Amino acid sequence: MRFHVLTLFPEMIEQGIATSILGRAMDRGLLSLEAVNIRDYTASKHKKVDDYTYGGGAGMLMQAQPVYDAWQAVQDRIGDRKARVVYMTPQGAVFNQSIARELAQEEDLIILCGHYEGIDERVLEEIVTDNISIGDYVLTGGELPAMVLIDAVSRMIPGVLNNHDSAETDSFMNGLLEYPQYSRPEEWRGKKVPEILLSGDHAKVDAWRLDQSVQRTRERRPDLYQAFMEAHPDYGKPKKKRRKKTGDQENL
Ligand code: ADE
Repeated sequence: MRFHVLTLFPEMIEQGIATSILGRAMDRGLLSLEAVNIRDYTASKHKKVDDYTYGGGAGMLMQAQPVYDAWQAVQDRIGDRKARVVYMTPQGAVFNQSIARELAQEEDLIILCGHYEGIDERVLEEIVTDNISIGDYVLTGGELPAMVLIDAVSRMIPGVLNNHDSAETDSFMNGLLEYPQYSRPEEWRGKKVPEILLSGDHAKVDAWRLDQSVQRTRERRPDLYQAFMEAHPDYGKPKKKRRKKTGDQENL
């Protein structure tokens, strides 16, 4: 996966992504990141990238020309295949795990970060394919949201996490929050690790974890719990005993 971020603050993106798991994934060639400075593409003598809004109103707007030219340069490098362009905006669809999973299928992803009061609508109409928000609050720019998106998408790429299982069992992967986890010691400040986790009985451990996931989701995210129960209406109900049919007797 190749991420291309169009931004006025490339160093923010580079420094934010270069460390830890994502830095290692870049060293191993599993992903790459280029942060493109939109200012490098301005046609203005004074390197200006923003101007007042027509119709009045507070604040400055990023102008169409430098954004478009920065995008064009990146798209030319990518080649004939048109890459998706994600604009980070509080007006977008709210980001979630299934969007992350879907975006992880792309070979190239262009991410556009706005600043000031936003970006001239005309260039957005020209280049943006997806509008994505990271939540219902307004940040000063799209860089932090872009980093959030890059992080969540990257860990969906096979090989980025040491153990791919850990993405499979994540919160949200099955629509539930993750179960509680414990490490050594067996007892800490009088609190013991649940007995079942020490039993070595994998089937029982799995059943316990699923139950914990469901209970936790019910308490903390009733919206997700409701969706889970609609998809699994029999969850938690005692399993019906198989009975031999005798004559006209119906299944109970
Ligand atoms: N830019 C400013 N606020 C944002 C948000 N909540 N999500 C995505 N981009 C943003």
